[in-house]
Amino acid sequence: MEPRLTLAGLDDPRLSEAVGALERGRIVMFPSLPFALQRGEEAFLTTEVFSGKSKNVSFDPHTGKTGGTKLEGENLARMAAMIARYSAFAQDVIGRVAPGYVPHLDLRRTSFRPGPVDTRVMSKRKDDRRLHVDAFPSNPNQGRRILRVFTNVHPAGLERVWEIANDDFETYAAKMAKGLKPRPDSGWRRALGLTKGRRTAYDSLMLQLHDNAKLDDAWQAAEPKMRLGFPPGATWLVYTDGVLHAALSGQHAFEQTFYLPLEGMVEASRAPVRALERLTGQPLL
Ligand SMILES: [Fe+2]
Repeated sequence: MEPRLTLAGLDDPRLSEAVGALERGRIVMFPSLPFALQRGEEAFLTTEVFSGKSKNVSFDPHTGKTGGTKLEGENLARMAAMIARYSAFAQDVIGRVAPGYVPHLDLRRTSFRPGPVDTRVMSKRKDDRRLHVDAFPSNPNQGRRILRVFTNVHPAGLERVWEIANDDFETYAAKMAKGLKPRPDSGWRRALGLTKGRRTAYDSLMLQLHDNAKLDDAWQAAEPKMRLGFPPGATWLVYTDGVLHAALSGQHAFEQTFYLPLEGMVEASRAPVRALERLTGQPLL
């Protein structure tokens, strides 16, 4: 199966196939659905905007607060306005691609990524060039889906390159099932401020799947995978909790994260939590 559903635009007649494609673990790509920068905003396409060692500028579309940048005053306000515009763009895209999701969607952070895909020496666990499904230690999502919209805004033609595993989530989880142990916490991590919600059995399994995949050199090497390029001007959507992906190279992108509760899906049986419940034979939420 072609891992991407490629659509000509938001009026493509195959747009109605997009939700099914996403839920089956495909990437929905628009090769030409650009996010237009306004005059002067190209000046933000530099790693100079970062504070310290951050690799993204993060933005909370609910509060307008930015993190990870050293910009201040007028420059910060202009960059924040640009990221807010991207957030609105991504919400508009979702509204067209998946109107049925809209009442259920939880709008999360927006990220601005003017740095190159990280090639520094780092721990395997942090290395997003290794295949993984997204799971975040401090942000348990308690079974909700992680749906992300990305746009490449590179001004000089550089593709963003990903790798995608051939295995779907359930096949992968079954291969890794040995050694997985559901370890929910009672809420103590949240009480101590270590997580933003209770870590459920599902969250603990997803963290183990994330780490086990990244740490397993033999599996990384053996897993059949495919390279995908996303040219500047491309916008793509993907459930990053369900698709094994790795970001290999590229620079200058935006991303908007949404959480979707299972009841918002057309086929909730395709959610990772349901796949893991089939594998483990127990409820995980
Ligand atoms: Fe990821």
